[in-house]
Amino acid sequence: MNVQAKHTSDITDAEESLAVQEELSKLDSTAATEIAMQNTLLTPRFYTTDFDEMDAIDVSPVREDWDKLIAQMVSDPNKGHFKKNEDWDHVDWDGMEPKLKKEFIDFLISSCTAEFSGCVLYKEMKRRGSNKDITQLFQLMARDEARHAGFINDALREAGIAVNLGFLTQKKKYTYFRPKFIYYATYLSEKIGYARYITIYRHLEANPEHRFHPIFKWFREWCNDEFSHGEAFALLLKTDPKLTSGGNVWWIKFFLTAVYSTMWVRDHQRPEFHKALGVDMSWYGQEVFRKTSEISKQAFPITLDIDHPRWMPNLERLQRANVQIAEGKKQGGIGGALKRGVGMAKAAAAFVSLYTIPSISHAVPDSPRLEPAY
Ligand SMILES: [Fe+2]
Ligand SMILES: [Fe+2]
Repeated sequence: MNVQAKHTSDITDAEESLAVQEELSKLDSTAATEIAMQNTLLTPRFYTTDFDEMDAIDVSPVREDWDKLIAQMVSDPNKGHFKKNEDWDHVDWDGMEPKLKKEFIDFLISSCTAEFSGCVLYKEMKRRGSNKDITQLFQLMARDEARHAGFINDALREAGIAVNLGFLTQKKKYTYFRPKFIYYATYLSEKIGYARYITIYRHLEANPEHRFHPIFKWFREWCNDEFSHGEAFALLLKTDPKLTSGGNVWWIKFFLTAVYSTMWVRDHQRPEFHKALGVDMSWYGQEVFRKTSEISKQAFPITLDIDHPRWMPNLERLQRANVQIAEGKKQGGIGGALKRGVGMAKAAAAFVSLYTIPSISHAVPDSPRLEPAY
């Protein structure tokens, strides 16, 4: 079969998309795949869950909103979008400042792994399930994530590297999360993904001289896909009120704190990348948190107080502790282990301080549906 006849942007089935990726993987670089294979607190992971429990979800309580959302996803407004066209300017990889090049490639690999992590999880749910509503949704989301990952790999290939997605599927470690944690974590990562992409897109729309790579031109349609995925999880959360009340609110607060602080620390590892974009990292972080918090009021009864006097100082403390952990790891030996241990204790203290900031409560609307408004 000549699987290369189609481009990943036109494919509506994640399995077929993967086959195309595998065919292309002859060109893939070992180094990029090794980076994507890493499992640390800061790198994107692959998840697995109790698929039977997820298959048992009954969407009748949100049927009207559900059918509308699915119809919109079935209409596939972004089919064919994730493909290089005449808007794809020439990229001077050789002329790129080396530090920026390294950070940008790291950004692309990390984004590709994150997109693909969604694809793998959604595809597996589709494969294992028998509930028509659930399998249809997950098939549609896997379709989108396969396109996103494929498109980033297209960009990486121009720099002579790419992530071997077939290899990752087989070999990367899978982390088990029970379904409710998958809902919180995935809902948030879809919405924060939307907020990240649209914030960069709008910034570059106003400051096009900072658009140092054409992939950013694709971010608007891209983030609309992520927005829809987040909408689907908001509806799933709505099917069972227990998921967003009682003791689970503490879990929601935990995931909000973990997702926000991980993003902060991860972004601060890429100063040159943000400088090239003309973006102040701390402004960007707070802006993304603000948008994500505003959106998440559709589903979660609390938001984090990101203007609290303890918020920024402890994010910065967490960031410094992370640098210390990395240095200790690099140093090795007893001295390195000690440095690492102290760094980890500091990181834990900073996280506890963030987690214990009183949250802000909200009334959650009856119908969660939102449209992308930023
Ligand atoms: Fe995506
Ligand atoms: Fe997504």
